[in-house]
Amino acid sequence: MLNKITVVGAGHVGATLAQRVAEKELAREVLVVDILEGIPQGKGLDQWESAPIEGFDTRVKGTNDYGDTAGSDMFLVTAGIARKPGMSRDDLVRTNAEIVKAVSQEIKQAAPKAMVIVVSNPLDVMCWVTKQVTGFPRERVIGMAGVLDTARYRAFLAEALHVSVEDIQAMVLGGHGDTMVPLISYTTVSGIPVTQLMDKATLDKIVERTRNGGAEIVGYLKTGSAYYAPASAAAQMAEAIVKDKKRILPCAAWLQGEYGLKDLYVGVPCKLGKGGLEGILEVELTAEEQAALKKSAEAVKKTMDAVKL
Ligand code: APR
Repeated sequence: MLNKITVVGAGHVGATLAQRVAEKELAREVLVVDILEGIPQGKGLDQWESAPIEGFDTRVKGTNDYGDTAGSDMFLVTAGIARKPGMSRDDLVRTNAEIVKAVSQEIKQAAPKAMVIVVSNPLDVMCWVTKQVTGFPRERVIGMAGVLDTARYRAFLAEALHVSVEDIQAMVLGGHGDTMVPLISYTTVSGIPVTQLMDKATLDKIVERTRNGGAEIVGYLKTGSAYYAPASAAAQMAEAIVKDKKRILPCAAWLQGEYGLKDLYVGVPCKLGKGGLEGILEVELTAEEQAALKKSAEAVKKTMDAVKL
């Protein structure tokens, strides 16, 4: 258990994530910080009041003062504006880059040794902004996208195959956007290659639905984007680090030559433990998957070009 985890942003994703992290008792204290007056305090208190019923002893608190975040062991960054219908994640880039820049400066000052998991979109670019501004090593700045994309893919597959979601193993790599790369060659149902259980046309449809998973939710919600599954995904990454589980999860990592890519964040299989990003696994890809990953990386680079640091 850590001493203090700070969730930055008390909006839909941040508040849901704070509750999940508290329920998992990943830290003695979960602090939610937001610029909106009263919102983090109110939500934090409300969550803490659920503790006697849910049975967790993690103290949830809210604040508008970054000074209170001093000494946090981990930051989960969800600050930013959410995507509206018709908006691509990249449309968000300039606004959210300014927000994440400001947040990163606060983190650097308040807790120079902290671990940071970034959730704000466009994810891969926000990770880069965080890494550049904090100056933290890649082990301590990791992005949440692949776990969410993979969860969507697994949910759709489980439904189509009428099997438990728990028995679907899969990996979605690449940037968190329409160019993401679900790895069909590594998708199995309790070890059985999915291609033995499903025809190509159905699988292709599921891959396409996964790629548009975020937009599908935005289409329903209209005024906001997904938050339950994103919060679950970020909480799973935090848990892997806090409990030193050495889990292999698809996360956005700062690449230094892995997969032939350099100086950008993109989703790859990562090992998460107490050291944060403890390793990147370089798995064999088909020529098609390798090309799709390259294309996805190019899309991330293009979005990076829109941001001035
Ligand atoms: N410090 C702290 N909080 C901030 C800051 C800041 N500098 N700037 C903005 N915020 C807060 C907003 O006040 C708001 O409460 O971030 C919160 C964002 O909440 P929502 O608008 O509800 O957005 P949400 O759905 O939670 O999405 C947040 O996560 O998944 C991504 O694409 C999503 O980038 C978006 C982010």
